[in-house]
Amino acid sequence: MITSPEGTNDLLPSAASSWIAFKAKALEVFSRCGYLPIETPIIERTNLFMRGIGEATDIVSKEMYTAISSENLRRWIEDEEPPKQKSRLSLRPEGTAGVVRAIVQHDLVPPGAAPVKFVYAGPMFRAERPQKDRYRQFNQLGIECLGSDSPTIDAEAIAMLAGFIDNIGLPSGNIDILINSIGCDTCRPSYRDALQAFLFESRDSLCETCNTRAEINPLRAFDCKQEECRKVMASAPRVTDHLCPACREHFEDVKSLLDESGVRYTEDPSLVRGLDYYTRTVFEVQATEGMGAQNALGGGGRYDKLAEEIGGRSTPGFGFALGYERFASAMEVAGIAFTEPSGIDVFIACACEEARRPAFRLAQELRAKGISADIDHQGKSLKAQLKLANKLNASLALFLGPDELEGEYATIRDMRTHEELTIPSNEVVSKLARKFE
Ligand code: HAM
Repeated sequence: MITSPEGTNDLLPSAASSWIAFKAKALEVFSRCGYLPIETPIIERTNLFMRGIGEATDIVSKEMYTAISSENLRRWIEDEEPPKQKSRLSLRPEGTAGVVRAIVQHDLVPPGAAPVKFVYAGPMFRAERPQKDRYRQFNQLGIECLGSDSPTIDAEAIAMLAGFIDNIGLPSGNIDILINSIGCDTCRPSYRDALQAFLFESRDSLCETCNTRAEINPLRAFDCKQEECRKVMASAPRVTDHLCPACREHFEDVKSLLDESGVRYTEDPSLVRGLDYYTRTVFEVQATEGMGAQNALGGGGRYDKLAEEIGGRSTPGFGFALGYERFASAMEVAGIAFTEPSGIDVFIACACEEARRPAFRLAQELRAKGISADIDHQGKSLKAQLKLANKLNASLALFLGPDELEGEYATIRDMRTHEELTIPSNEVVSKLARKFE
């Protein structure tokens, strides 16, 4: 048996239905803030991610699935020269870089234009060591807003996300919204230097990875899970103590707007996020119980330099993404279902062989009128057909047998009350259409 690759999931009908319901609810809630759907390719040029997310990040340096065409592979083997950077493609590890690339490429935010707001959902790919809630293919639901650096955009998006989580039924007590500001090009370099000096001084107490981080990307030392490193990092310089006046004011505005919106959040000066494009606001939604180390349900922040980084004009942006599988786990921990199990409207049961063709035709007619209908396809006995109707959670069973065919009527049973009535054959479709309108 060939099984699915490690770290991937089949979304079987119940999970697939939940994913569809999750996306539909997000579109409904986010559209109230003006977010419109966008779809970008699953595969993009590798250098988009290198420049956008950052070459030194774990995502780009270790976790990206990079593809080369078989033609380029052949040339590589024959010429012994790797394909040029430009022709390499990668499966998207996240959605922001692709959406910003599309906005830049199609010039969707010309100078002076109002901000554009987009929502997307789909699979992302990261070559991680698979474990529960950490997959190689997973689904994200995300938003990106480009064209404004106003703190109202940050607060609106975070409040919108909190509203969505509430709307979908995950209790607010089961999540914590952590928020921080990591400054801008003006204030971050001096903070980076201060943090680096601290890490160099603490060298002997830090793990090997953090010592490497100290050299390349000191902020990432805050993400270390090792107990010793965490102890050291608790007394590390705080980014919020190094913000320039403009960044400080921006952060204060975001927080006061969230306060006014009634969004509960926790300030966390150690929150830095693992992607290089962020400036100023960063935030994360974490599950408070039952999720272990994979408790980040979603996160995001501001990225005012990303559009320029990938070759566009300066266009500030803000966005976030939720991981669907982790969100579904958090719902499970809270004992909450995404959707009520729904059933079909009508099951047509045949009491004789001659009824099977009329039953098939009737099912087609009902479906054409928007009624969900099903029949038996396996020649089952009447008793077994009724069992199937129950399994499909049918509202009504419609019987066709010798008496019904002869008398040109149908017997209809309400599957909950067991009440029965008969309807002339030529009125069945219109009467049921009215009932299920
Ligand atoms: P991220 O924090 O890398 O941010 O991913 C967002 C969410 O995707 C995580 O919080 C987590 O729930 C889920 N996720 C990430 N990796 C995995 C995995 N291997 N398995 C299962 N779930 C995973 C971003 O991707 C940014 N693009 C968010 C953003 C949008 N920032 C600005 N705009």
